[in-house]
Amino acid sequence: EANQRGAKFLCIIKLPVASRKVNTEVNTRKKTFTEVQTERLEQAERTVLIKCPSRLNEKKLLQYLSSHGKINSHFFFENRGIHALVEFSEKSSVASLQDVVGIPKAAEHHVVPFKSRLFTFTLKNPVTKAAQETPVHLSPQSHIPVNELIQKLYRADSISSQMYILLNEYQLTEENTKLRFLACSLVQDFARAYFPDSTVKPFGSSVNTFGKLGCDVDMFLDFHDTQEHATQMKKGPFEMEYQMKRLPSERLATQKILSVIGDCLDNFGPGCMSIQKILNARCPLVKFAHQPTGFQCDLSVSNSIAIKSSELLYIYGNLDSRVRALVFSLRCWARVHGLTNSVPGTWITNFSLTMMVMFFLQKRSPPIIPTLDQLKELADEKDKHIIGGNDCSFVSDLSKINPTKNTETLDELLCDFFEYFGNFDFRKNSLNLRRGKEVNKPESSPLYIWNPFEQDLNISKNVNQPQLEKFVAMARESAWILQKEDRTQRMINKEPWGLAALLTPFGKSNPNKMRRTKGLGSETIRSLLDSLKLSNASNLQKAVGK
Ligand code: GTP
Ligand code: MG
Repeated sequence: EANQRGAKFLCIIKLPVASRKVNTEVNTRKKTFTEVQTERLEQAERTVLIKCPSRLNEKKLLQYLSSHGKINSHFFFENRGIHALVEFSEKSSVASLQDVVGIPKAAEHHVVPFKSRLFTFTLKNPVTKAAQETPVHLSPQSHIPVNELIQKLYRADSISSQMYILLNEYQLTEENTKLRFLACSLVQDFARAYFPDSTVKPFGSSVNTFGKLGCDVDMFLDFHDTQEHATQMKKGPFEMEYQMKRLPSERLATQKILSVIGDCLDNFGPGCMSIQKILNARCPLVKFAHQPTGFQCDLSVSNSIAIKSSELLYIYGNLDSRVRALVFSLRCWARVHGLTNSVPGTWITNFSLTMMVMFFLQKRSPPIIPTLDQLKELADEKDKHIIGGNDCSFVSDLSKINPTKNTETLDELLCDFFEYFGNFDFRKNSLNLRRGKEVNKPESSPLYIWNPFEQDLNISKNVNQPQLEKFVAMARESAWILQKEDRTQRMINKEPWGLAALLTPFGKSNPNKMRRTKGLGSETIRSLLDSLKLSNASNLQKAVGK
């Protein structure tokens, strides 16, 4: 049951080429990144969010809503009370519902005239018959705590199945993904009040197949559709004073746009709380908590390179079921041992760690995933993208990529990952995913991972020497645990084994290692203090509170 999803997926990709072609026609073809994005954004525009009373008659609610049009899907979730996400078949149903709802009296609330898609469901005559109030099924929007996960891992029969259990517990659900797209769509309603042709789209781990329940929603404001249209239409003698004042730099334009959207969300955005404008960062952004959906959001302005990175990871995550299982396990491992952190600092980020896993998978024999250069070879005319002088082309159609012949188990891959990076010559070498090769470091950063799309940039420039050393030490320790443990004995003693042993802080199950753990603790505090220089005080407070 644990690796059901993984197993099912394996069946699909292991089909011989001929039958894959047939499948393409009967619509089981894996969708491209753009197709998924377009479909989900369109669904989100037909979706509303309804706050419900704690005692609820589901049938009645759906009956009311159906009078506005056909409902495609709906689910309930808990977030400071019960909420329902309801997706209509037609966008016009949303307007129909907005037309009949009550608005709080202006005299009492001084409302701002903005029609949102957030509603509250109240009945004048609360239902009295208990039979009508069957408890609704609540779809979980967060993952189980690590200690509960570890309990589940005891029952598995191999490390591989432990890794699929972790994947199934942590990965985004269909419902959570719908909610993420809805959050973007609600922000889009707002952004369009200023910029009518803008769209708001998610990127990063919400869409790259590596997101876990509870991760932030990275979203960006996109004006590309408009710009493409504008250049296409430039045929006549007129030129339009384009939407806003001309500014001396793209960065300044980005800052101004984000500044007004930030103010707008702060003053009028329904359910938008704790807005922080971080406009002087390398990538300017507005951070806020979106209370109705419960997400922490980071809004930035369209960054084509970041979208390409999301698409590249989407492709890798869809090629082979082992890819996601390995990444999820290693992300969890890194978090447990304090190698990653939810605030920016001198530590490895989830993004860098994911790239390290991809590099490792490119280096297997035979490789499990292709290099970026190989993906570029497969690209056709419509996949061509040159961004800021960099060639970012790669194939978008997954069915053009041949499945790997590699049959290694996840047990082997996990152990070899630790061994590989435990012995990697970080002083001399860097990781180049475009070529799938270790190459000499072009400069002295402790960890150098080439940005796949901007060739002279290092995506892990922030990582300092102590953090890298900590990573190497943990990798070696983990390889040692996996190679040396007597699994049967540990199972008999009801001690954590395999992945469960790796997710238990080292030293907890073995008192001899306590001294080392204390040392690491002070290192973590030192790094947190370092991050004070990089991050602001309120972020640090969040990190310490966690
Ligand atoms: P989690 O939020 O930790 O689950 O992962 P994430 O991949 O969403 O990372 P994050 O929210 O930090 O960043 C969002 C996206 O921005 C990433 O997926 C990348 O596409 C991009 N990004 C983040 N950090 C870097 C970086 O250092 N360099 C580059 N080029 N892109 C980055
Ligand atoms: Mg993110």
